[in-house]
Amino acid sequence: MDTEAINTGEGMDEDRGLNTNTHHDNEGEEESEIRKKVFDIKLANKRLTEDEIVAQAFVFLLAGYLSTTGALANCIYELAVNPDVQQRLYDEINGAVDADTGDIEYDRLARLPYLDAVMAETLRHHSLALPLSRYPTRDYKLGTTGITIKAGQQVEIPIYAIHHSEQYYPDPFKFKPDRFMPENKHLIKPYTYLPFGVGPRNCVALRFALLELKLTLVHTLLEYRLVRCPETDVPLRYKRFIHQTVAERLCIRIEPRFETNI
Ligand code: HEM
Repeated sequence: MDTEAINTGEGMDEDRGLNTNTHHDNEGEEESEIRKKVFDIKLANKRLTEDEIVAQAFVFLLAGYLSTTGALANCIYELAVNPDVQQRLYDEINGAVDADTGDIEYDRLARLPYLDAVMAETLRHHSLALPLSRYPTRDYKLGTTGITIKAGQQVEIPIYAIHHSEQYYPDPFKFKPDRFMPENKHLIKPYTYLPFGVGPRNCVALRFALLELKLTLVHTLLEYRLVRCPETDVPLRYKRFIHQTVAERLCIRIEPRFETNI
């Protein structure tokens, strides 16, 4: 597979390559083909039952709140324990917001490379989801490995293990947003960065989630400094909660940047 082409955006969604969002860079060509096929299926006759509507609403609430608040908490934690990263991010954000209103335009937000890198590294290092599960509908040969996955056999994709493999991420337990900066992104192999899953059943709200996370970070950092305190656990300890990994305890101090915030 030509990783260069993949990571520069050839043959991918039309908005890929127009911004710095890391999640755009992770698909292979096979992936794009499958996506096209799935969305070509005629859905005109499909009707949702009441149970299906209720189930969807429930999953939206469950999948939506816990993951976003968890990602934000983990990111704020990393900024508190890595003050150099926080300062660099603050400088980038401060230079991008409107000096009079303190607002930031949508396009500008999507084009801030360090903000994207910090968010991407948070989602790599603190993978929220436990293994992704898939059930193949037909037998599938795994390249030249001699392994065939049988139809109906459950396949578990261990996101945390992949995100912490030395093979894909040197020094995997270190928080290093620079891995996801534009000049380094081509080193990341397709399908090794999976915070939102992959394929036609990946996270439906990936763009929305990143947007709200980035926007919240921008406004938080403009007003507050995030500081490590005696209660801050380094490293974080995790526990399992429903289908996700969450911090056992996450404490930091939040200080106003300016006197007027007091
Ligand atoms: C940082 C935030 C989030 C992360 C890391 C995340 C991660 C994930 C992951 C790993 C999956 C499974 C994908 C797969 O099996 O390939 C998933 C599915 C899903 N997510 Fe998210 N998610 C986030 C935010 C949200 C939000 C805000 C919503 C809703 C507003 C949402 C709704 C869903 C739904 C409905 C599914 C199931 C999709 C399906 O089965 O077709 N997620 N998410």
